Amino acid sequence: IAGSFNAAVKDAAVDALKKQGCNVLVSDLYEMKFKATATKEDITGAVKNPEHFCYGNETMLAWQEGQLASDIVDEHKKLNEADLVIFQSLTTFVNFFKFPMYWFSVPAIMKGWMDRVLTLGFAYTLEKRYSEGIFRDKKVMLSFTTGSHETMFRSNGINGDMNVTLWPIQNGVLNYCGFQVLAPQIFWAPTHLSPEAREGLLEGWRTRLQGLLNEAPLTFPPVDIFDEGKGFQLKPEVREKQAESHFGLTVGHHLEKPLPPHNQMKAGV
Ligand SMILES: Cc1cc2nc3c(=O)[nH]c(=O)nc-3n(C[C@H](O)[C@H](O)[C@H](O)COP(=O)(O)OP(=O)(O)OC[C@H]3O[C@@H](n4cnc5c(N)ncnc54)[C@H](O)[C@@H]3O)c2cc1C
Ligand SMILES: *[C@@H]1O[C@H](CO)[C@@H](O)[C@H](O)[C@H]1NC(C)=O
Ligand SMILES: *[C@@H]1O[C@H](CO)[C@@H](O)[C@H](O)[C@H]1NC(C)=O
Repeated sequence: IAGSFNAAVKDAAVDALKKQGCNVLVSDLYEMKFKATATKEDITGAVKNPEHFCYGNETMLAWQEGQLASDIVDEHKKLNEADLVIFQSLTTFVNFFKFPMYWFSVPAIMKGWMDRVLTLGFAYTLEKRYSEGIFRDKKVMLSFTTGSHETMFRSNGINGDMNVTLWPIQNGVLNYCGFQVLAPQIFWAPTHLSPEAREGLLEGWRTRLQGLLNEAPLTFPPVDIFDEGKGFQLKPEVREKQAESHFGLTVGHHLEKPLPPHNQMKAGV
């Protein structure tokens, strides 16, 4: 929304990345009035099984047959074009999700983008996911504002640990599709800051943007440490090796141990 702190964050990113020679494409979902609901209307032709409509199966077929709604196709093209940029200019296209935090998550319109644009077949299959995911050559990051102060999102704060809050989107959506997930950029409670402090946050963001394309991503476990024949559970030999470790593997794969520090917040730890 124009005039919001979020808009200033976006402008700073577009500016800095263009200066680094990146081809930047922006999808302003509110301006596009992007449809958030995953429905039959996302398929332009006839659906295969109208009695038992299965969104994933039907949209995969529609994707294969060129029968997806045009707003989804447009977003697919933008995601694909990212490959072209990598190929032609040897710079990496960074997919940003920039948003105000709503209910510990993304706003409905952005969740709708994820539901509708990350189409089965196009963005993931049961064979191609996580470390073998379709977008493993692309990078992605969450950049968001909160209403809460940083202290409230600590493990002893009223909202609980931000690492835990970020796990569903960073692991369940982004890592699931194979993206290399860069550490999130969080602007804590900009509404409660002085104009000078807000300018300071933007300055810190501009500084980070200069080195962003060279940042290492967060660490997630590779799929081959799980045994498909055993319902995709951790392989016994890996579990044994992990027994010596004080920490679990990730926020999700905690193995009944303390969470690994900064697991969803910093690279390489
Ligand atoms: C439905 C809903 C659910 C929510 N759930 C949560 C939740 O679960 N957890 C949580 O923590 N919060 C939650 N919030 C709060 C929400 O995350 C914050 O209100 C939001 O992140 C604030 O960001 P903004 O961009 O809208 O700020 P704004 O209010 O737009 O901006 C803050 C200030 O920055 C100023 N500004 C604008 N442009 C610039 C500029 N260029 N330079 C410097 N300053 C500028 C603005 O004038 C304003 O004074 C929720 C809010 C809603 C509506
Ligand atoms: C959707 O596809 C899966 C996997 O191919 C299949 O098991 C399931 O029966 C399908 N569902 C419908 C409603 O067609
Ligand atoms: C998660 O993230 C914060 C940074 O906000 C960090 O200081 C905190 O200790 C982390 N929690 C864990 C378990 O690492």
